[in-house]
Amino acid sequence: MKKVLLSIVVVFILIQLIRPHKNDSKNNINHISTVIDVPDEVEQILLNSCNDCHSNSTVYPWYSEIAPVSWYLASHVNDGKAHLNFSEWTAYNKYQKEHILKNFEEVLLSHEMPLKSYLLLHKEAEMSKEQYNALVAWVKTIKEQ
Ligand code: HEC
Repeated sequence: MKKVLLSIVVVFILIQLIRPHKNDSKNNINHISTVIDVPDEVEQILLNSCNDCHSNSTVYPWYSEIAPVSWYLASHVNDGKAHLNFSEWTAYNKYQKEHILKNFEEVLLSHEMPLKSYLLLHKEAEMSKEQYNALVAWVKTIKEQ
């Protein structure tokens, strides 16, 4: 029994050596705000509820340092960014933007985003009905620009 426990501890320590790349670039030259008007209210919502997975700068909680949580978070961030990255907006072509904007309204109306698993640990990211409405209204203005 002792041996089993010891091996678990050793494995746990060893996996800590595998550290995923941090998503914390400060480079914002392709950021959506360079071409689209982002009202303060919207910026605050994106900051609170979306940017950890949809921008180049995630705010990492302490437990994100611990493997395998760190791997799980990194995969969510990479997946989220692959679908939509506000920091790389101007690098998208017309078709990518159209695709994102169409899905954008959908995920807001269905309250699919922020992801439920994220909200469990980030109560502050929960959005009110007014905040959902403000984002939907903002998406409409992007379509017009
Ligand atoms: C915990 C990470 C996380 C957070 C926080 C999050 N998302 Fe996502 N988002 C994802 C992942 C992962 C996907 C892709 C898989 C999926 O659709 O479930 C995604 C997909 C999307 C898509 C679809 C993009 C496309 O074209 O396929 C949109 C739009 C989106 N998110 C908007 C938002 C908005 C707006 C917020 C904030 C209100 C938000 N997300 C918060 C992880 C996140």
